[in-house]
Amino acid sequence: MRFVDTIEKKADGNALTKEEIQEMIDGYVKGDIPDYQMSSMCMAILQKGMTPQETADLTMAMMHSGDVVDLSDLPGVKLDKHSTGGVGDTTTLVVAPLVAACGGTVAKMSGRGLGHTGGTLDKLESIPGTSIEQSMDRFKEIVKENGVAVIGQTGNLVPADKKLYALRDVTATVRSIPLIASSIMSKKLASGADAIVLDVKTGTGAFMRTKEEAFTLAKLMVSIGTLVGRKVRALVTDMNQPLGMAVGNALEVREAVELLSGKIAETDPLYEVCMLLGENMMMLAGLAENEAEAQKKLKQAIADGSGLKRLQKMIALQGGDSSYLTFENMEKLVAVKQHIEVKADSDGYVSSMDAEKIGTAAQLLGAGRAKKEDTIDPAVGLVMRVRCGYAVKKGSSLCTLYVNDDTYLKDAEELLHEAIEITPEKGEIKPMIYGTVTEKDI
Ligand code: URA
Ligand code: CA
Repeated sequence: MRFVDTIEKKADGNALTKEEIQEMIDGYVKGDIPDYQMSSMCMAILQKGMTPQETADLTMAMMHSGDVVDLSDLPGVKLDKHSTGGVGDTTTLVVAPLVAACGGTVAKMSGRGLGHTGGTLDKLESIPGTSIEQSMDRFKEIVKENGVAVIGQTGNLVPADKKLYALRDVTATVRSIPLIASSIMSKKLASGADAIVLDVKTGTGAFMRTKEEAFTLAKLMVSIGTLVGRKVRALVTDMNQPLGMAVGNALEVREAVELLSGKIAETDPLYEVCMLLGENMMMLAGLAENEAEAQKKLKQAIADGSGLKRLQKMIALQGGDSSYLTFENMEKLVAVKQHIEVKADSDGYVSSMDAEKIGTAAQLLGAGRAKKEDTIDPAVGLVMRVRCGYAVKKGSSLCTLYVNDDTYLKDAEELLHEAIEITPEKGEIKPMIYGTVTEKDI
């Protein structure tokens, strides 16, 4: 079939066959299918959708467009987690070592941050010496020894996604749910994990603006994983405020260290989301029968410091100076020229926050990149002093800015005043966690 006929078939709302999808991905990666035809196909997919079977076929075709990591020589169920992009989302640095301390095998390949969300790799690199570039053999050695390693993507993982994502970005087709699901799942499956826990964010600044869309994406990704024989669960969580209080690289590492040191309350949203991710990873790996048992073990790994030890050892094995990773020593990594308070301009309640704007403010201070080539300052960013629902007085601090370069300080301050809404009445506060999608829900 000529590709123009395949586009027409999709534009008419028909399901594509596995062979047609395979030819499309092969042809696009090789350059036989030009960008203009693929753009048209992406728009047809955005408008007509894809069935779960088509989405699974697309995912597999994309996954096999490059290297597929084989982790089968590592012991036990190989675990991974993935978040669809949050502000102040430090969960990997908490959950990966905690689950390892409870007997899990966490072999994770992460990405860098771009725009308003921070990347785990950038956070790791804020600890002097840490290298996120490890050979596949060394990566596996570290996981064998310590139960956990987090590195950058190696080799040629899912070239189809690199090319397709760049095209979607400039053709207004990023938001197609089957295209997002296949993009995320192809990369997760190519990274070699047997079991994956996903955190699908919803709210301002997230790809999924509504809870309903987020559940649709979550279910689709769980069904793709299940169709290809992996164990997948997905949380749907809110992004209407930063998950943790810290937004910035070393600042987020410090918050992770605080949590692993038992210094963050169990009612804290970051703590709650970390627990839920960890519980689901433990259950998928067969390390706990139920949530209560998983939670008990995870809390034990906080209480006895074994989770923090795994993080320290991981950093040391990846070449970093792990002496920074204590509650006291983390202060050295967040030392900056000045701290500036952003203050409430009226009495009232924090009724809403725009997490995207808060992430962008941290980026303006140098904590994130606007373009891939930009460099980041690991120490800078901000620490929120309030959450949605908090009462504030005029002049009280809403957040503390950690500043070295003040070029865009005024813009960052303005953005924060815009982002944090204060109203006279205490409004309805959205929950942080909406639910979990398991294989039983699809
Ligand atoms: N994250 C991805 O990796 N791909 C998408 O398409 C959207 C979010
Ligand atoms: Ca305001």
